Amino acid sequence: MSNRFDERVTLDPQDWEEFRALAHTMIDDTLDYLRDLRERPAWQPMPQAVRNSFDEPLPQEGIGAGAAYGDFKERVRPYTNGNIHPRFWGWVQGTGTPLGMMAEMLGAAINPHMAGFDQAPASVEHQVVRWIAELMGFPKDASGLMVTGGSLANMIGLAMARHVKSGFDVRQQGIAGAGRKLLVYGSVETHNWVNKGLEFMGMGRDSFRAVPVNADYQIDPSALHGMLERDKAESHRPICIIGTAGTVNTGAIDDLETLADIAQQHDTWFHVDGAFGAWARISSKLKPLVVGIERADSIGLDLHKWVYLPFDTACVLVRDAALHRAAFASTASYLAISERGVTAGGLPFANLGIDLARNFKALKVWMHFKAHGIRQIAGVIEQNVEDIRYLVRRINDAKELELLAPSPLNVACFRYMRPGLADDALNRLNQEILFQLQEQGIAVPSATTFNGRFAIRVANTNHRSRREDFDMLVEAVIKLGSKLTADFRG
Ligand SMILES: Cc1ncc(COP(=O)(O)O)c(C=O)c1O
Repeated sequence: MSNRFDERVTLDPQDWEEFRALAHTMIDDTLDYLRDLRERPAWQPMPQAVRNSFDEPLPQEGIGAGAAYGDFKERVRPYTNGNIHPRFWGWVQGTGTPLGMMAEMLGAAINPHMAGFDQAPASVEHQVVRWIAELMGFPKDASGLMVTGGSLANMIGLAMARHVKSGFDVRQQGIAGAGRKLLVYGSVETHNWVNKGLEFMGMGRDSFRAVPVNADYQIDPSALHGMLERDKAESHRPICIIGTAGTVNTGAIDDLETLADIAQQHDTWFHVDGAFGAWARISSKLKPLVVGIERADSIGLDLHKWVYLPFDTACVLVRDAALHRAAFASTASYLAISERGVTAGGLPFANLGIDLARNFKALKVWMHFKAHGIRQIAGVIEQNVEDIRYLVRRINDAKELELLAPSPLNVACFRYMRPGLADDALNRLNQEILFQLQEQGIAVPSATTFNGRFAIRVANTNHRSRREDFDMLVEAVIKLGSKLTADFRG
């Protein structure tokens, strides 16, 4: 017998006990999967048959949660880019943590709308931002926002610079109101987010002044100074200096103190891209490397890189909370604040960035900080740096290997070397070594080039790596190099 109630449609489980059993299975499988990561290859390519299987038609009728999970386990989970594996050191990607995964689930279960709403989830985000501000040496009343990634965090810093330093009402008039060139300065090693950001903000790539670097890949302050003087003499308006704490190529850290002085002298905004390197500040041993970061007007930083949390978790900090709000706050009748009820606290986070609907990413940060404590997280960061110093020693000790750039933090760039082979042949040889490291599932470094020289690049933001993993990498590169050299002679 059905009644009106039974006929209603819902997406909750029809049988909660059956769903509970499936959910327990998902968690048990997943924990086994994470526990046994080390026993699997660092990466495996997706077979063509699996690729083809994603051509399946739109499912008009459901197959049920159990079958959908089965498809995930079989066709999705094994074929990722591999960044949770202990020997993944490509680009700058974090690994995630089991607790971070659980926090994601808990946050998704309560699924709060994080435009604001002055209830506990908003308090968690406010607290997390205050904690991050404290870790970066920012004032207690600084502002900040959790965002998807370093790119967006940095772009918000750039938008702040444009809002505060353009000298006209950019929000009202748009970039056309400038009447002259607004310019942004950063080293040639600045990450590509700056190009994307300038394009997106309608300022265009020509607004970026790429400042040369010294032999350590740090921005050259006197070159910067000269460029600023010349641009001002031509009546352009410099609005922002970007310092990088931890460049993507080598982990170089600009002289942030000097950049802060120059920004002050030229009345520009000072933004620090600290995507991963900013976190050196939480270790008492590494903190001196990033001195001056606390003088920034804004900082972009990721927590899905060197804080090891799952994607996507990043934060932008802005020293002056009133300016931050003034750059982004807007109102609409349907978003009006009320004196009582759910909207009593307003929508503070929607007023600090681009997104209106936002997920509860602050929860995983909150639980991660509480559960592990800053001291333990700092300890893993120090371990990553120590392991890279160890790798550099092994590279320097091996006559077949050559370090291609200084390694001040957690990144090492090197190549297999054979006297008598020209750079072009070495480039092709090292590219092949890198392919084989990845395709044989040994390890996943990535690549970069220095003055036309191809480098195997190891960026260590992996809390799962052990010394033996770096030994395995060195031995594999030497073995592959000596096996493949003959193919690249002549
Ligand atoms: C120095 C630096 N800035 C910005 C970014 C971009 O960060 P995301 O990938 O989180 O957007 C990266 C990414 O590796 C980076 O290394």
